[in-house]
Amino acid sequence: ASAEDCGIVVFGASGDLVQRKLIPALYGLHLRNLLPSRFYILGFARSDMTDEQFRGRMREAITAAHAEHPAAVAQEKLDAFLAMCRYVSGDYNDPRAYERLSMRCSTCDRDFDATGNRLFYLALPPDLHPVVTRRLAEADLTDEGPQGRPWARVVFEKPFGHDLASALHLDSLLGRTLAPSQIFRMDHYLGKETVQSVLMFRFANAIFEPLWNRRYIDHVQITTAESLGVEHRGGYYDNAGCLRDMFQNHMLQMLAITAMEPPASFQAESVRDERVKLMRSLRPWPCGDTGGELCNWVVRAQYEAAPGGASSLPAYRNEPDVAPDSVTETYVAAKVLIDNWRWQGVPFMLRSGKALHRKVTEIAVTFRRVPHVLFGLSSKAQMPANVLVLKIQPDEGIDLTIQAKQPGPKSCMSTMALSFKYKDIFGVTPPDAYERLLLDCMQGDRTLFWSREEVEAAWSLIDPVLSEWAAHPQRCPLHTYPAGSWGPQAADALMRSIGARWRRPP
Ligand code: BG6
Repeated sequence: ASAEDCGIVVFGASGDLVQRKLIPALYGLHLRNLLPSRFYILGFARSDMTDEQFRGRMREAITAAHAEHPAAVAQEKLDAFLAMCRYVSGDYNDPRAYERLSMRCSTCDRDFDATGNRLFYLALPPDLHPVVTRRLAEADLTDEGPQGRPWARVVFEKPFGHDLASALHLDSLLGRTLAPSQIFRMDHYLGKETVQSVLMFRFANAIFEPLWNRRYIDHVQITTAESLGVEHRGGYYDNAGCLRDMFQNHMLQMLAITAMEPPASFQAESVRDERVKLMRSLRPWPCGDTGGELCNWVVRAQYEAAPGGASSLPAYRNEPDVAPDSVTETYVAAKVLIDNWRWQGVPFMLRSGKALHRKVTEIAVTFRRVPHVLFGLSSKAQMPANVLVLKIQPDEGIDLTIQAKQPGPKSCMSTMALSFKYKDIFGVTPPDAYERLLLDCMQGDRTLFWSREEVEAAWSLIDPVLSEWAAHPQRCPLHTYPAGSWGPQAADALMRSIGARWRRPP
């Protein structure tokens, strides 16, 4: 299917996400001639702005996003793109604003000769999702025509709710106002080329799947490390924290893709069903009566300044819009067990944090060691394990370490990597995840979007930990780590508890 003619209405149009990700992604599609031929972008936010001022901001956003490749910002192309952008301001909860929006949509449909298909993109914090959904429905903006033509689709940017209760509340509202085919829950990690290639790696190659289980795999490490701090998102982040911001969505989704059973087909329902089955098999962490145990499973920490160290970031508590006594975690490491036949007893070690040593996302599968050591090592020494590293970003690719003989008369061994580098083979860096996912929305393909069941399963795991932290802060202390390091010592201890060490990607 190709992207169908439509208009996209972007809520939160003056916000960070729109300027840094969404608009540059739409521009990227425009550069590659992938946008529909009849198309427009209508920004909606509280700030008063004229169409011209909005275009000026979008011009700046696109220029900044392409700062490393200024050649991509060809004036003619950019002007043509901006000519498709318009703006309407209003309060998210004001019915009159939606009347104005409805009129602007109709005018745009006419001016751009569009078919009336509309994509409403909620680049807004989760507390505004129910408000905007309700108002859109009341203004009949989410009504579809007969047989769903013209269509109206609504994209919800993660996080989906703030906790289990608010996620259930949103879901029941969505159930009353929208058909499932109209709902797109966006998690941009699912749109990353290398995350999708995990599925291809697993299910398009015969040789790995037979090893993909408890008999051959010792443990799996999933890391999403960021070197930046919270930048100017302190207001949002201080209310969210790492567990909500990264674990409830991106981290669990990468875990699901790594560990799920093969789906029967690559249809949206099949793939989403397997992901949800996996999420429902995750063993709940000890909370409530057994809560004293939680710190042996989940470690939380916050970054501190490290004067003279690897990072010049201030302490998290000194970041703009962060409470000076904040106990929000900027780092989480967790041990996850999966209660099913394939994975019984195999720890999945997850960690994510801000202000870490470098930016890297990877899934590292450590295989079991050989049962008997033959070569060059004392009987007590252990042969290094084979490690398969699915490198999600940057330096996208796949490495598999093997032991090989060093040249010479002695039986000396060293560890080598069989290495596939995305850039060397394909000659390009992977396209931005938002580009792919926006196209999927315009094509009505929901394979790479969260289902309601996944959201609920993920919150069911996360929610008790949030409650435990709030109710018994002393049981699960908030550790600290120096900005620019690889995280707190408590996370190293967590890893030692399974007899392994965190990887230190170079
Ligand atoms: C977002 C989080 O979903 O993902 C941010 O809200 C985080 O806090 C970002 O920085 C990371 O995305 P990426 O694509 O840069 O790894």
